[in-house]
Amino acid sequence: MDLKVLCCIVMLILMSGGKQITGQLREKDRTDSTEEDVTVLTRCYDEYGCFSIGEPFLSVYRPINLYPSDPRDIDVHFFLMTRRNIGQLQKLSFKDNSTFVSSTFNPSNPVKIIIHGYLEHGNEDWIQDMVRELLTHDDYNVISVDWAKGGVPPYTQAVANARMVGAIVGKFLQYMEDNLRVSPSDVHIIGHSLGAHAAGYTGERVPGLGRITGLDPAEPYFQYTDPKVRLDPSDAQFIDVIHTDGDSIISGGFGMMQSSGHVDFYPNGGRRQPGCNNNVVSSVQQEGDLYYGIRRFVGCNHIRAYEFFSESINTDCPFFGYKCNSFANFTAGVCTDGCGDGSFCAPMGFKADKWQRFKKAQPVKMYLITGNVRPFCQYHYNIKIKMENSEENRKIGPQRGVILAKLTGRRGQTSVMRTSREPQEFNSGTTYEFLMSSSELGSLLRIDIEWRPVSPFFNFNFNTFNRPNDVTRPLRNMFIPVRSRLQIQSFEVKNLESGNVFVFCGQPADLAYAEQVKTFFKSSGNCTS
Ligand SMILES: *[C@@H]1O[C@H](CO)[C@@H](O)[C@H](O)[C@H]1NC(C)=O
Ligand SMILES: *[C@@H]1O[C@H](CO)[C@@H](O)[C@H](O)[C@H]1NC(C)=O
Repeated sequence: MDLKVLCCIVMLILMSGGKQITGQLREKDRTDSTEEDVTVLTRCYDEYGCFSIGEPFLSVYRPINLYPSDPRDIDVHFFLMTRRNIGQLQKLSFKDNSTFVSSTFNPSNPVKIIIHGYLEHGNEDWIQDMVRELLTHDDYNVISVDWAKGGVPPYTQAVANARMVGAIVGKFLQYMEDNLRVSPSDVHIIGHSLGAHAAGYTGERVPGLGRITGLDPAEPYFQYTDPKVRLDPSDAQFIDVIHTDGDSIISGGFGMMQSSGHVDFYPNGGRRQPGCNNNVVSSVQQEGDLYYGIRRFVGCNHIRAYEFFSESINTDCPFFGYKCNSFANFTAGVCTDGCGDGSFCAPMGFKADKWQRFKKAQPVKMYLITGNVRPFCQYHYNIKIKMENSEENRKIGPQRGVILAKLTGRRGQTSVMRTSREPQEFNSGTTYEFLMSSSELGSLLRIDIEWRPVSPFFNFNFNTFNRPNDVTRPLRNMFIPVRSRLQIQSFEVKNLESGNVFVFCGQPADLAYAEQVKTFFKSSGNCTS
């Protein structure tokens, strides 16, 4: 059996695991005398208040519902890191004022709080990476919330414990406000997976919380539940979310597709990420470690969310997402107005709050393409292909195939990209669009293209760009329909990030034949034939 499938089955068993209990649904908490007539499905924990497992927590999207564990068992710890103690964790406790006094906590600096997810702890490598990036950016009070003892199987219990974690972090914020005059509006919580929903619970208890960043919020038992149950736009003044693993849980996705912030980013469509289809051996080689390798193999899409966020903190690359009605339409070049007045694009990750002035109650979805390795951030180039409108072309009729294209600029060159995954029809006099992404190319100089027609006899899995000396070409050429050729009038390329537009003209008589690379050079004016 496929290891990934096996892992998923193990996860599902853990999630629906052992202890839970229809019995508990009926259980009445006898330890709390004040609750007698109010609720049957409520349990209270002193200062953290009462937790109901009735509606809205009980629903078809969450058929199994547990009470959070006792706070003493979840054993939440707060670890402080500032520029003065990086690499050396300082434990803070809101029950012991001296922990703040003897720490490097500086109440005049903003607070960044990181909350991990299921099966993790507060000093994971990715948290250390993120802390280093944050402190490179500015001298924050970065606090990692460790709830490792509560984030263990069964998953249903960890889901319930996230509520308690949210309540405890809420107490922590309240303490900072009362004793250190740290306003909740200066606090930014960054939560991954279950940690994203925990941050939502904190926001529900702390009015005026500044910002929550949800990094691939967990799907199982959260997607489509009531807003009280999951991260939603009412939980903070500003909420930005990155979705990277939105495939359904059955196909191995742990993150949710449902939007849950003021602005939701769906890099590469949000379901799965490029570079994440490695097999387990290359995952282990990449990590250099068996445990991390297997984790990368199982959770590669899910962990991209924090990799994107960490990269976004100090990069010059804009990491823009663009407003669109779907990823398919975005890559087809439908939403290529760029940033417009600024409301049509937003920087994904750390700088997403720049977009805050455009926020509305309804979430806005933003799409972008990333690379498959670090650095992930790329630039987007929208390409308009204008077909020549000539008598001759109309006689030949529509052509089916794909155009391969390569852009060259002063700073670099793209790899060879296709106009579409499947062959499409090109008609004379018509304009077609598609989207390419790459590292920054600088001022564009030329575009090289190759026409790849559909052949009834032969499926071309080669391209001339990569195989200039391919000896099978004469043979394969015998199978190309004789009349298959394209007459392209011009290319117009727009860099969505900068808004700059470049025009490339062909010679009027030039045709693009199959398996020949043809070059269009930059032109200052309109192309005329
Ligand atoms: C905690 O310490 C701060 C100063 O560091 C002080 O202002 C505050 O009153 C103290 N709070 C308690 C409960 O002792
Ligand atoms: C693409 O956009 C068009 C409108 O421009 C819309 O009618 C269509 O439903 C969109 N497709 C998807 C898959 O969202």
